[in-house]
Amino acid sequence: MKALILVGGYGTRLRPLTLTKPKPLVEFCNKPMVLHQVEALAQVGVAHVILAVSYLSDMLQREMEVEAKRLGIKITISQETEPLGTAGPLALARDHLRTDNEPFFVLNSDVICEFPFNEMIKFHKDHRCEGTIVVTKVDEPSKYGVVVYEQNTGKIDRFVEKPREYVSNKINAGLYIFNPAILDRIELRPTSIEKEVFPAMASNNQLYAFELKGFWMDVGQPKDYLTGMGLYLNHVRHSCPDRLSHENGTVGNVLVDPTAKIGERCRIGPNVVIGARVIVQDGVCLKNCTILADSLIKSHSWIANCVIGWRCTIGQWVRMENTSVLGLDVTVQDELFINGGVILPHKAISESVPEPKILI
Ligand code: GDD
Ligand code: MG
Repeated sequence: MKALILVGGYGTRLRPLTLTKPKPLVEFCNKPMVLHQVEALAQVGVAHVILAVSYLSDMLQREMEVEAKRLGIKITISQETEPLGTAGPLALARDHLRTDNEPFFVLNSDVICEFPFNEMIKFHKDHRCEGTIVVTKVDEPSKYGVVVYEQNTGKIDRFVEKPREYVSNKINAGLYIFNPAILDRIELRPTSIEKEVFPAMASNNQLYAFELKGFWMDVGQPKDYLTGMGLYLNHVRHSCPDRLSHENGTVGNVLVDPTAKIGERCRIGPNVVIGARVIVQDGVCLKNCTILADSLIKSHSWIANCVIGWRCTIGQWVRMENTSVLGLDVTVQDELFINGGVILPHKAISESVPEPKILI
């Protein structure tokens, strides 16, 4: 089988992390985002993954070549000359997707869950129609695609992208299987699958909803990235508890790369991810945050609800909170208070940031 992942553009909503690394390679819970999906696809026997990008980076191409070899699959990068939206990329990759006349997966690249690929295949083959979309339940449906379907069969009656008025709390989780017949509906031009293709498929009775079990999150924005991290760690606690740290000083679910070093009398957790070669000095307190590779957190700092980028240095007695996000190689001097700071790469911070602010 094949899969196309809608990787998209610059990942502006995850800035400043995406200023120095393409979004699919930004680590989520110590693994590049896109690898969570690619590995899960390879596990169910997908042999060819197409990454649909509207902006190409050499870094992405190189990393994907390495991963393709490691996983024994083919990874093709399909590059757009202008952003083709969420449907246009299928038309661009038409020749790859058509080859064996088999159904194929399409995924949004920023969603995280226990990917139910085998169950999706079975459900899709059983209803025999053109498309299956995975749905999940959320409290705030207005920022997603909302789906209305028959409870007993899953047949979708309506698909409304980002509705202004309440329609339902069941939403599109961004994971699909389609028959190649969908390609006849899509032209090679910027097209939204949610606004232009799904409503038509629903009115032709060709679209079915598969209900997701377990956690789900779109982690394409810092706040949701941190929420998703908590959900993912909770899933690891139930499925593979040995992967979590049980060292002294850890509280709740904490994932620590084996090459990281943590000092004495720290309080790490709940919901913390510590990346490769990170050094956390004595007496540090970390809650609900991700520290990316090669960063140094000096003694007695207190960090909650933040993402610290790669190769950062956080001074002693720093207090950082409120979805602060630091890009690559940021230095924060001793004793500062950072409240909701979004700090661009290579910046040295020598004054507190008392109110949420972008620092260029
Ligand atoms: N190749 C390519 N080209 N990919 C694109 C483009 C493009 O021009 N535009 C967007 N994408 C990719 C994004 O990178 C992402 O992986 C996916 O398509 C969806 O785009 P988002 O910008 O993340 O959309 P969203 O989160 O607002 O809404 C979508 O996801 C929700 C679930 O998280 C929709 O599919 C909603 O219906 C859905 O509920
Ligand atoms: Mg998204």
